[in-house]
Parts: sequence; C-alpha cells; structure tokens
Amino acid sequence: MATTVAGGVSFELTEEQRALRALAHEFAEQEIRPRAAGYDEHQTHPADLIAKAHELGLMNVHVPEEQGGLGLPCFEGMLIGEELSWGCAGVAVSIVANTLGAAPVILAGSEEQKAEWLPPLLEEPILCSFGLTEPDAGSDVARIRTTAVRQGDDYVLNGSKTFISNAGHAAWTVVFAKTDASQGHHGLSAFVVPMDAPGITVEKHLDKMGQRSTDTSAFSLQEVIVPAANRLGEEGDGFKIAMQTLDFTRPGTAAGAVGVAQAAYDYAVEYARERVTFDVPIAMHQGVNFLIADMAAEIEASRLLCWQAAWMLDQGHGRRATLYSSFAKRFAADTAMKATTDAVQVFGGYGYIKEYPVEKLMRDAKLFQIYEGTSQIQRLVIAREIFLPRD
Ligand code: CAA
Repeated sequence: MATTVAGGVSFELTEEQRALRALAHEFAEQEIRPRAAGYDEHQTHPADLIAKAHELGLMNVHVPEEQGGLGLPCFEGMLIGEELSWGCAGVAVSIVANTLGAAPVILAGSEEQKAEWLPPLLEEPILCSFGLTEPDAGSDVARIRTTAVRQGDDYVLNGSKTFISNAGHAAWTVVFAKTDASQGHHGLSAFVVPMDAPGITVEKHLDKMGQRSTDTSAFSLQEVIVPAANRLGEEGDGFKIAMQTLDFTRPGTAAGAVGVAQAAYDYAVEYARERVTFDVPIAMHQGVNFLIADMAAEIEASRLLCWQAAWMLDQGHGRRATLYSSFAKRFAADTAMKATTDAVQVFGGYGYIKEYPVEKLMRDAKLFQIYEGTSQIQRLVIAREIFLPRD
C-alpha cells in the first residue's frame, strides 16, 4: 500500500497486495465478465460465483486471525472491491456485501460473538447482511422505527427493513432497532438476527435498474425473539456501530465505483480507436478524446482518494478517516456516473443498446450515488467534519 518512506510517500503496492489484486482481476475477467450480461438480464443471484470467490479467498478477508480469518485491513478489501466491480458491480456486491454484514460484529462484537458468527462465514459461502435501512428511514438513520423490547434474557423485535443487499439469501443479518424511542440516535441498538428466526418474512425481491444480479430485498420482523446475547455492544450503541461500519466499508464501495468507471473507460478507449468517422478513428476527434482524457484523470483521482481513505482507516485516524471515506465515496460515485455516461456518448447509438456493454455500466453506476450514503449525505458528512469536527 502507499507507505511513508524517507523523503515522501510511495504508491507501490506490496508483492502480496499485487498478487491479491491480480487474483481478483483474473477472477473478474475469466469468471464474472462472461456471465455479467446474462445475470443482469435475469437478475440471477450469483451463487456459483460467490462459491468460487469464497474458494479463492476473495470473501470475508477482514475476519480476524483469532477467528481463523486473514484479518486483512480495509485497504486489501478495497483492492478486491475495485477489481470485482470492474467485472460486474452486481456480482461484486453479492460477494462483498459480507464485508458490510460482518463489519458490525468485527468492530463491536465480543469475543464470544465473534467466535459464534464469524468462523462459519469462512467454512462455507454463507451470506450475512446489514439491516439498517427502513421504508421511512434511509439517509436519516436516527428515524429508524423497528423496535427491540427487552423481555427477560431476550429482545422482541418488530418492524421492517428494505433495500437490504443479499437479505433474501443471508443466514443472518445485523438488525438495527430502537431500544429506547425517547433517546433519538442514542436509543438505537444492533442485534445479530438469524434470518430463519420465526417471525422474519422476506417480503420482496426488489427489481432494480442496475446491479441487478445483487439480491436487494425487503423483510419484516414480527415478534421475532432474539437472545440478549446477540446484542452488539451496549444498548444505545447502535448508531455509532452503524456509522463506524459505514466508515469502514465506504472506501471499498467507492473502489467499486472506480472499477465500474475503469471498465467504461477501457471500453471507450478501445471503441474510440476502432470506430472511424470523417476518415479517422473517433479517438482523433477532440470532442471524443477530451471526454476520455477527463475520464482518465478523474478515475485516477478517485482511486487515489480510495487508497487514502482506506489507508487512514487502517492507520486508526478516527473521524479524520470518516472525512476521507466520504471524500472517496462522493467523488468516486459521481465519477463513475459521469464516466459511464460519457462512455455511452463515445459509443453513440451503439452505447444505448444492450448488445454493447456500456449501457449496463451506466445503470450500474447510478446505484453508487445512492447506497451506503447518497452523494448528498457524503457532502453533508464532509461539511460537518469541516465546520463541526469531532475527534
Ligand atoms: N463515527 C463515530 N461516531 C459517529 C460518526 C462516525 N462516523 N458519525 C456520527 N457519529 C456520532 C456523532 O458524534 C454523534 O455522537 P454524540 O451524540 O455522542 O455526539 C452521533 O453519532 C450522531 O451524529 P450526527 O448528529 O452527525 O447524526 P445525524 O442523525 O445528524 O446523522 C448522518 C448523521 C451522517 C446523516 C447519518 O444518518 C448517515 O450516515 N446517514 C446515511 C446512512 C447510510 O449510509 N445508509 C446506507 C445503508 S447501507 C447500504 O446502503 C448498503 C446496502 O445494503 C444497500
């Protein structure tokens, strides 16, 4: 990774990081890309690719060594995220959503909780998910209405969640619920909830514009009994656990946007070299090559922001890293949208039809501006860290 060296900073990856990135790239090229269009069209849950990624060691890389995992830092997960998304963002999210699901347990779980929930993820390709968003509470997390009422050694959960990646296939989900409705964000708590618990109903698989091979589902909880031993941290810790989780995952998600932008750029460059108008390849027209020049510069800037955010998180920079995570997520998501839109423009009419790959990339890019905090929420976080910094 970028390390501080005498007299400056090195952007050289270590040999291990280069090998990991090459492994993820090869998997994306040979396994994900050939299936991407079909899985997108039919909204196929990519169970086969999840199993292969699991076998190759590209999933659950942050599970600590104490629980039998690799214990890799945020930076390595981010490298994997970019490459898998270069293959297909929908498939990539199906694979890396376990990072989001497991992060609250890794960050806030007790040793007993980590020992219970994390090793099974390594043993077989089972999925977990992050149950934060609700029909009436997306950006405004403190408005969550799902309740968790203590009854003896258990809690009883009631409510509904939506837009949850992989919820339809997950073995367990971290559910955020109100344990004290009078306390605003201090009244939220987090629980590990097995998805086969009586009272959980996966209600709807959502039919999305892009990233269609990721299962995105809504589920309800009716009188779901969860042992108090499944609560992560103390009552009231839920909001901070959610924020710290998102700080940890946003550089990887931002890197996914970089992967999509890079794919769009690669296709646009290739096409601009081949397609001839007015007797020259369109790459010779300034109207086209300026689009590509901007793509190249903005993709590189996005990637560097992702690297910096992940590096800061791994160095333990606390709320400064929150700021950089939001820089990366905001800039990379908006770059992916612009780069993919411009790639469609470079392809002209062909760009708009499904036979060519760039219209899918444009649909996939849009979601990066929405999930894990919209581009507007990233600006809000950035502005708050500027004007009201809290370390
Ligand atoms: N780390 C630690 N603590 C944090 C924090 C952070 N990054 N951010 C905030 N906090 C703390 C604050 O210090 C404050 O603590 P005190 O009360 O002790 O002072 C408390 O949390 C409340 O902070 P705010 O006043 O800033 O909270 P807010 O209600 O104004 O909201 C927000 C802040 C940033 C807008 C937040 O609601 C947010 O991040 N919203 C976006 C949610 C989001 O990203 N959802 C995506 C869901 S996951 C997904 O999309 C993936 C999928 O599966 C599809």
